[in-house]
Amino acid sequence: MTTVKYSLKISECESYEAMSAQAAAYFVKQLEKNPRSVLGLATGSTPLGLYKELIELQHAGQLSFRDVTTFNLDEYVGLDREHPQSYTSYMYHHFFQFIDIHPGRCFIPNGAAPNIPEEIARYETFMQQVGGIDLQVLGLGTNGHIGFNEPGTPFTQQTHCVELTEATRQANARYFESLDDVPKEAITMGIATIMQAKKIVLLVTGKNKKAAFERFLYGGVDPEFPASILRLHPNVSVYYHL
Ligand code: F6R
Repeated sequence: MTTVKYSLKISECESYEAMSAQAAAYFVKQLEKNPRSVLGLATGSTPLGLYKELIELQHAGQLSFRDVTTFNLDEYVGLDREHPQSYTSYMYHHFFQFIDIHPGRCFIPNGAAPNIPEEIARYETFMQQVGGIDLQVLGLGTNGHIGFNEPGTPFTQQTHCVELTEATRQANARYFESLDDVPKEAITMGIATIMQAKKIVLLVTGKNKKAAFERFLYGGVDPEFPASILRLHPNVSVYYHL
């Protein structure tokens, strides 16, 4: 017996490129319906192909980000925005610099803010003030994390500061000179914040995600596996290539 909720729309894709193209087509539809959409964005290796597709589509005139606002899921605490491994740098280098988005409408938590609790409150409030996220893209952590919401994070949590698990620090160490350089904390949208998004696109790719993906589909809804909560969201589209 499967416990998959019917509200998940699941597309198996024949390649990483096909996954990225299908997700990009979904974004095109969203921006056709509402050119002023508020997009929730993710970093990591998974969405790189999506961003590449979106850049090409925008250059081909098939969509515009002119009136779009974006909020990123997360940012390391303690890295300046200019640090090469900050998520601000990632977004600029992989996406924002190539598209027609207004830089003043791209929001990413400031992990170098002098007062992190104030920064968190500011970020969450601002997201609510613009009406919340219309379409949120997510990757899946091998331990089931979404954003930096690690196993055990209450489903009711809004944007907050987290201590990163060893597993996540090790997974992200490939981007730093050594494990010691990987920050120990991050600001992340909470699970409640993510669940408030009107639509969610979950991208899953890589053989190392197989076990996590199966648990996402068939395991129970359990804070020990944060992504499992997405099965209770009314509008999640999953694109995967393992
Ligand atoms: C990134 C994020 C993380 C990643 C996840 C998967 O902003 O919030 O949850 O989506 O760790 O990372 P990749 O895509 O590198 O496997």
